[in-house]
Amino acid sequence: MNLSVQPTDLSDRIRGEHIHGSLYTDPAVFQEELEKIWYRTWVYVGHESEVPETNDFVLKSIGPQPVIMTRGADGEVHLLQNRCPHRGNQVCTRAKGNARRFTCPFHNWTFENDGRLAAYAFPEGYADRDMSELGLGRVPRVASYRGFVFGSFAGTGPTLADHLGGAAETIDRLCEHSPEGEVELTAGFLQHRVKANWKFVLENETDGYHPAFVHASIFKVAESGLGGLYGDRSTALTRDFGNGHTEIDLRPEFRRLDRPMGWFGTTPEKLPDYASAMAAAHGADKAREIMIDGTPHVMIFPNLFIAEIQIFVIQPRAVDDTVQHVTALQLKGGREMNRRLRQQTMGSVGPAGFLLADDSEMYERTHRGVQSLQPEWLFLGRGDHRERRDADGYMVAHATDEVPSRGIWQHYRRLMEAA
Ligand code: FES
Ligand SMILES: [Fe+2]
Repeated sequence: MNLSVQPTDLSDRIRGEHIHGSLYTDPAVFQEELEKIWYRTWVYVGHESEVPETNDFVLKSIGPQPVIMTRGADGEVHLLQNRCPHRGNQVCTRAKGNARRFTCPFHNWTFENDGRLAAYAFPEGYADRDMSELGLGRVPRVASYRGFVFGSFAGTGPTLADHLGGAAETIDRLCEHSPEGEVELTAGFLQHRVKANWKFVLENETDGYHPAFVHASIFKVAESGLGGLYGDRSTALTRDFGNGHTEIDLRPEFRRLDRPMGWFGTTPEKLPDYASAMAAAHGADKAREIMIDGTPHVMIFPNLFIAEIQIFVIQPRAVDDTVQHVTALQLKGGREMNRRLRQQTMGSVGPAGFLLADDSEMYERTHRGVQSLQPEWLFLGRGDHRERRDADGYMVAHATDEVPSRGIWQHYRRLMEAA
């Protein structure tokens, strides 16, 4: 990409724990975020299980940019830009499929699924010109962690391991719930679109202050007892891993309750095949610990939200237009669990689900609210008097404290003020 990026000074819009509302609504800020965040840092694109076979492809995105994720003949995952080098037409319009080559519908140029130009119509028109440079644009850096594929439009920069840092451990914790150590994102995606800035969504994913109020109705209807996790007596924690990655660590509360599969509202007796597969994979004691702790609730900056039983991918399309792509978590070798994971996902974030609908209402109201003139600043100081470093050196505080938002904005500022 040919980007001209200038350093920015955000000191007039971020003052300690106070954030200026215009950072959510200013179209110029959004353009700069595309250049300095979405087209520079590592962004989650898709999961390897979505392209299991050679020549499989699936249409994904990095910010507003469509990206084709393919499994090439070489077995490698490629990320290609969906733009014909001839005159710009989109070469792939299907959401997913299996294709060795993509043919542009406009003038029939054809590309290998690793991006190389394979053929073009009526070649005499190009005499003996070298056409080998005219392939599809590629995302310069592609890397994966435990099957989660990330891309970066920056040719150089921190490695994916550097970017994930301590948050990689949350992905390990997730994978432990599969008897085979792998998750699969094969249940299909729903898309939820909101007229709100992407950062409201990003921050809300690890905001433990709102569930007791925004989600009171679903907690009541489901009789899940989940509301207690986010009460003021909860022992759960918020954590800032650095690099913008944040979590709500519910394990202290689940350990206090000491009920295997309690995090999922069930018991091992109701899932005998899963429980015995977990014991065979990990040993009885470790399996019990994993089944008590539950899956993580972690937001990998800027767009991958692992929400215990679902995976959300945040896609900004414009300053006030954000799509969340959501799918049920599926555990390899966990067939008995997987059906329930799909059912619970439909119940909570499906078309008739309350959970995301309630959050979406908050996103849109907040986006409208911050456009009022006064007061100009948002305040994110909750719990700053009781935040502390954990044994690994990460900042933690109470489940309802705003440690995650403060961590996100610190990282945001570093990225946006970089040259
Ligand atoms: S625009 Fe693709 S072949 Fe012409
Ligand atoms: Fe919520």
